[in-house]
Formats: sequence, structure tokens, C-alpha cells
Amino acid sequence: MKELDEKVKISMDLHIHSHYSDSPFSIDQLFKIATMQGLSYIAIADHDTIKGINDIKKAVKNYDLKAIPAIEISAYSFSLNKKVHILAYGYHKAMPHTEKLCNILLERRTRHSIMQIEMIRKQGYKLDLDEVKKIAQHSAAIYKQHIMEALLRNGYTQKVLSPLYDYFFKNNGICSKDMDYIDVHDVVKAVKMDGCMAVAAHPSKSSCLPVIEDLVKTGLDGLEINHPDHNESEQQMIRQLADRYNLILTGGSDFHGRYGNPPFMGCCLAPCPELFLEKLSSISGPQSILF
Ligand SMILES: [Fe+2]
Repeated sequence: MKELDEKVKISMDLHIHSHYSDSPFSIDQLFKIATMQGLSYIAIADHDTIKGINDIKKAVKNYDLKAIPAIEISAYSFSLNKKVHILAYGYHKAMPHTEKLCNILLERRTRHSIMQIEMIRKQGYKLDLDEVKKIAQHSAAIYKQHIMEALLRNGYTQKVLSPLYDYFFKNNGICSKDMDYIDVHDVVKAVKMDGCMAVAAHPSKSSCLPVIEDLVKTGLDGLEINHPDHNESEQQMIRQLADRYNLILTGGSDFHGRYGNPPFMGCCLAPCPELFLEKLSSISGPQSILF
């Protein structure tokens, strides 16, 4: 009975962002929120960086909460012409193959954002690069959210994700052209070479279900089924694919605080946390699945 109680208590949010990418929250603040939400395991999966590693190691000592090493890598399916995000879990001290690709992405991201700042300035908006850099000081790159935060502070908008955000960055907005990404197969290969579990993030939201079979051949281990943007019929399709290719199912809130959409940390959880830990341990080694 005690064993059953222990199992019931596991609630695992495997997809959270910090101020090391595009969220305003520090690692300590995220641990505080996770504790208030009654979570027992979290994975801080910042975009293209594991810069939060030391803060996470510190935080696990101060909170009754376990943390799984994670990162979310921005990739591209050239056969689908769509962005595909790969979540990697269970990295050891570093992930050299993945970090090599991420460094290229981070450099491109910041260069692209600086170009966007210039374009917005040319439209007559008061927007200072140094101010944006200060807002993004913890982050491994400058993101759209940091640009919007500067515009918010200058009184142009009341929210980061707002009609002004859509005006600049969506549809045919002046900053709607995206940066160049890396082939998703190269990302999955790098993640596997680094001894980690590779999971397709929000695969239905990313419309990448048609390439899952190919990604499995490259080494994909799992699919994120529980995500705020997935409805029941999408989850059904993901479950069928997972059954067909023997993939692990994961889940997380994709929490970005006020830099993202409303759903809160813990709103989506890993469906089978014990199975996830078991599989992660078999892929990454039992010593490396937790900080
Ligand atoms: Fe995410």
C-alpha cells in the first residue's frame, strides 16, 4: 500500500523554460512555483542551452523536488518544411555533439533578433539594443520575447504576447521571416551520440507526425503527448504512433510564464512517470537521470 501511495505522488512536468532562454523566471523561482504546484519531478528544458545546469544543481539541494537534465533543441524538417523541436533528456555533465549544433543556433538566433530590432527601430519605435541585451542578460540568446519586453517597458504594449507581437512576428509582419534551423535528423543523431533520450516536442502542434517514422529510424525514442496545444484527437493519433513504433510518451506544460501562453506549470504532466524514469535510466545510465 505504501508503495502505491509513493507512486500516486509522482507528478512530473517535463517541459519548462527559464530565463536562460525565453522565460522571465529564474531557476529558483521555477523550483518555488513547482513546489507550490505540488510537483515531484521537473525538467527545465531551455531552448538550445544547458546554461541553467549549475543553478539547477543548487536548487535541488534547497527544495524537495527532483530535476531531470533536459534541453529543447530547435530543428527543421526539410521534407515537411516545418520547424520540429526535439526534447533531449538525461544529459551527463555536458552534451558535446548537441552543444556544437546549439552554439550555431544560438549565434544565428541572436544575429536574427538584432536584425529584427533594427527593423522595428526603422519603423519609428523607441527600442534600444542595450536595453534588450540587459533584459536578456541571463539568456543564451536574444529572443522575440526580450524585444517585446523592451517595447512593453517603453509603453507600446501591455503584454509580451499581444496584438503588437502578432503585428511584428506573425503572418506577413515585418519580422515574420524566421531564422535558419538545423536538420532534425542531425539533431536526433547528436542527441543519441550524447547518450540521451530524444523526444519530439508537441509533435501535433508542430505538424511533424508524418516524419515520425523516419525520425524513429534515426533514433527518436519518444513523443510528447501531453501538451497544452494538443486536443484529445491529436493525443489519440500520437498514442497510436507510439504503440506502432514502441515509443515512450511524455508530457509537460511548456511553461514560459508571461513570455508564453497562459497554461500554468503542471497543467500537463508525463502520463507514465515510472516508465519514463525506467526508460531514461536504460538509455542514459542510472546515475545520470537526475541532478
Ligand atoms: Fe518548449
